Amino acid sequence: MNNKNFLWGGALAAHQFEGGWNEGGKGPSVVDVMTAGAHGVARQITDTIESDKFYPNHTAIDFYHHYKEDIKLFAELGLKCLRTSIAWTRIYPNGDELEPNEAGLQFYDDVFDELIANGIEPVITLSHFEIPLHLAKKYGGFKNRKMVDFFERFAITCFKRYQHKVKYWMTFNEINNQMDTSNPIFFWTNSGVQVAAGEDPKQVLYQVAHYELLASAKAVIAGKKINPDFQIGCMISHVPIYPYSCHPDDIMAAEIAMRQRFFFPDVHVRGYYPNYALKEFEREGYQLDITEEDLAILKQGTVDYIGFSYYMSTVVKANVTNDNQGNIVNGALPNSVANIYIKSSDWGWPIDPVGLRYVLNELYDRYQLPLFIVENGFGAIDEPDQHHHIEDTARIDYLGQHIKAMLTAIDYDGVDVIGYTAWGIIDVVSFTTGEMKKRYGVIYVDRDNQGNGSMKRYKKASFNWYHDVIKTNGKNIK
Ligand code: BG6
Repeated sequence: MNNKNFLWGGALAAHQFEGGWNEGGKGPSVVDVMTAGAHGVARQITDTIESDKFYPNHTAIDFYHHYKEDIKLFAELGLKCLRTSIAWTRIYPNGDELEPNEAGLQFYDDVFDELIANGIEPVITLSHFEIPLHLAKKYGGFKNRKMVDFFERFAITCFKRYQHKVKYWMTFNEINNQMDTSNPIFFWTNSGVQVAAGEDPKQVLYQVAHYELLASAKAVIAGKKINPDFQIGCMISHVPIYPYSCHPDDIMAAEIAMRQRFFFPDVHVRGYYPNYALKEFEREGYQLDITEEDLAILKQGTVDYIGFSYYMSTVVKANVTNDNQGNIVNGALPNSVANIYIKSSDWGWPIDPVGLRYVLNELYDRYQLPLFIVENGFGAIDEPDQHHHIEDTARIDYLGQHIKAMLTAIDYDGVDVIGYTAWGIIDVVSFTTGEMKKRYGVIYVDRDNQGNGSMKRYKKASFNWYHDVIKTNGKNIK
């Protein structure tokens, strides 16, 4: 790859690493009332913060007080960019204030200045599962149209304040997670929504989706007015869905299932609802609040690039449910079955580097927009030896295979890729399980699932490995 400006980086999200959950005037977010779970054990959403419960995101890895030390390590690693998010509740602690919280704004000024002074470009997600708790409780989250204005105000505040420090933005992280309406966590973290008894989750989903797509489009329009050089993208979780076989029914099952992946980017990129969605609304009799004015805004506020996460692929088979197959895989659809050709991580996430080349081609063919791989990584248990050394060969192997697949997509297939940011570049609290032991970092943090540990940082073997990948622009991957 000859692109000298390729954005090699690391990815993080405020709630998973900052800590300082109630410092500097920060208000609680939807994640601040989530307890820890484990593989196969769901995190609980509590009504308030209960004193006898452990909330792993409250302290996380305490970047809030370690940011200078951590950024020094990121610079030593050679990162060209750091993708992180701005915690909405640092800027608007409740979400519906008219004036922002200056201490919160100043915190990100300090962090961005430190990054830039170290040659690292901040790449920013506006909403990464951090909706103010107050907005979820008082307004029902994105079930409510008022959220569009609250988000737009937050976005404009950030755009104005950081317009000379940040060029690449994303509106909503993994906005499409919530298509899996069977998992209440995704509705809560994406949108601050809890589905009430008697509500049809699918209808709620499409209304919520519309308000978020509208909020995203309004942010794009406002951002471009503030700085026309901004690059504002969407962010989707892209888990390709393969057909189980070449049986035409399996092919069609996969085609239809993939609409769950494409629905959000179809609107973000094209600026209008795809026919398969309009047909579904009509078929199901969904009465959605979508105005003509909204549709004009969607058309105007299309994104500049597609940011996406890639961790795994999945498989569907026609006419089965995964329950009767006994093969439930993560990111599952009702008719998901295991892929017999690939292995999975300890958390059951299928490992499929070829799938990354496949999705890069698929997304580029469909949208013809630059792509940014803003998350990819391997969650695993790391065991330090007595010298605090961690030989994380499985992680090196995972990252290496995926980066090679990306380079093939760039060099052989001609896909336009802006950058690659490895997820959880420093160990963070896992999103789905709330655990510390599901580690992704090339930097180890001494902290365990119960919140014990010295918080000291140690370089893993993957640190030097990733350093060389960046230095050689991906040429010497072993
Ligand atoms: C993505 C999220 O879903 O995957 C991150 O954007 C998350 O926030 C990452 O941490 C990995 O998931 P997990 O559950 O292993 O932390």
